[in-house]
Amino acid sequence: MSKSSSLDVISSLCKRRGFIFHSSEVYGGINGFWDYGPMGCEMKRNIKEDWWRFTVRNREDVAGLDATIIMHPAIWKASGHLDTFSDPMSTCRACKKLMRADQVWDILTDGEIGQSLTALLAEGADAARIAGWCKGKAKGLAPNLAAVLDADALTAAFEAVKADPSLAATVQALYTLLANAKGPQPAVTPCPYCGGELTEPRPFNLMFKTIVGPVEDPSNVAYLRPETAQAIFAQFQNVLATSRQQVPFGIAQMGKSFRNEVTPRNYTFRSREFEQMELEYFIRPDEAVALICGKVITLADSPDLSTPQDAWGWEVWHKYWVEQRKAWIQACGLPADSFVEYWQKPEELAHYARACVDIQYSFPFGVQELEGIAARSDFDLSQHQKHSGKSMEVFDEPLKLAAAKLDDAARAAFVETVVADWTGRGKDADAARAFVAKLFEGKYVPHVIEPSAGVDRMMLALLCNAYEEQKLVDEKGKEDVRVVLHFSPRIAPVKVAVFPLVKNKPEVYNKAREVFEYLRRRYATFWDEGGAIGRRYRRQDEIGTPWCVTIDFQTLDDGTVTVRDRDTMRQERVTLEQLKAKLEEALIV
Ligand code: GAP
Repeated sequence: MSKSSSLDVISSLCKRRGFIFHSSEVYGGINGFWDYGPMGCEMKRNIKEDWWRFTVRNREDVAGLDATIIMHPAIWKASGHLDTFSDPMSTCRACKKLMRADQVWDILTDGEIGQSLTALLAEGADAARIAGWCKGKAKGLAPNLAAVLDADALTAAFEAVKADPSLAATVQALYTLLANAKGPQPAVTPCPYCGGELTEPRPFNLMFKTIVGPVEDPSNVAYLRPETAQAIFAQFQNVLATSRQQVPFGIAQMGKSFRNEVTPRNYTFRSREFEQMELEYFIRPDEAVALICGKVITLADSPDLSTPQDAWGWEVWHKYWVEQRKAWIQACGLPADSFVEYWQKPEELAHYARACVDIQYSFPFGVQELEGIAARSDFDLSQHQKHSGKSMEVFDEPLKLAAAKLDDAARAAFVETVVADWTGRGKDADAARAFVAKLFEGKYVPHVIEPSAGVDRMMLALLCNAYEEQKLVDEKGKEDVRVVLHFSPRIAPVKVAVFPLVKNKPEVYNKAREVFEYLRRRYATFWDEGGAIGRRYRRQDEIGTPWCVTIDFQTLDDGTVTVRDRDTMRQERVTLEQLKAKLEEALIV
């Protein structure tokens, strides 16, 4: 058996079997946009429903929200997206292509030029071979490299490599040398598409703009949301007032987000329109926990993460949600060893964030972010409080009662502790005092832990993980390759397929329709009456259907059917009651 997960192989299966199509394909497609076909939309729906069940329905402390995609533009000013939600963009002065400046080397490595240079290095890239490459292949691949355009530059590169072979030791070093051998100083970054000179990076805001109403005036500019999270913050007080929740509690939302990515790439991984599943889980500030519980449990206390406790501080809540997210990812079918937790380093964190973990999956194009879990302090609600002028504070009765029990000396000591902690973290002493004064009244702006996942990325990871090409040999020694998607039953687009053994015998056919009608009222069920049973099995394997049920003449006699298991290919005869019980056990969660 071989597990193949090249992106080309997977995308071609996805096209062939109706999972994913290029958007607007008949017009040549549109970069960064994807459509989900009959199988894809079922699978995507399963992922979202499973997330919703896990995050909202199965919990008593999370409420849902379904907000609009276009919101008041002030939201994006408050959140910081208008000013800072940008990627560095460069343009090639020669071929005019735009690209993310921080992805130049990835684009080079993934592309034809990178592959050709890798092969050259593997052969031993001495000066003569490099010269041959520049005069031959590079003319078509990277025509704007200085060493390709200009014989003197080529000679300069040639001499440089002779003097110092390390200048040609890696694809990046060699490509840079060939672009700069006789070029301007300081050295330019070469275009990964043609070898031309790239402009200095400049920030490019990723939000899509639109106009609300008939008048094309700057005052009517609005944005397609680049994340679902901000609506949750903006509607925080409405949800709190109507959901009978109290901190700690969460608000969950899933839906479309839009980012005008400079270089959408790696299939659906970085798209311009995609779906997110986000939870904002609001918690007490640690200072409030300390007042109420007399202590704050941190990770150093090695807490049991299975049941939330009042005394948990932000650090434990954050880790709790990392564990919850990992549990869900595994329940969807990604094995624990296929992803890792990457804890962002202090210098990588946004200024307001206290911690951020990326769950990274080993995609065919590298280990990349599947989703993130951030501890965002009270930044978001405080920003909306400041910009909207509306209070985002909550009143916490146990906090007021706990504060009321403190005598003057204890209050003064508490103030001093908080001031020392805040100033130690570079924050303002007066702000700390004002914050504590509010705490004594039982009020604060909640802090938030944000697990934020992408539906499309999860689906891509599940497809990559599920794909397998199995080499089979039949009884006559004939070799064959079976393509199979090993989806977990809860994620599989079709749960069960029903086949009549023959279609020209009404008794068998009608019995099979009866079974099909029963099953399809409960599960996504596929009817297939065409071709040999073996061919029908293979068609279901390619879309990951866990079970195929065949109705034959024996069914008419004893009521049993044949169930064939996708992964083991084993067939067993079971009664209809046993079949129902089997499906129920696997699919009712
Ligand atoms: N509210 C936080 C937030 O949006 P993010 O890391 O920018 O954080 C969260 O996005 C998740 O959304 C990512 O981990 C990824 O799964 C998904 N995502 C982000 N940009 C995407 C894109 N261009 N295409 C597909 N999925 C994307």
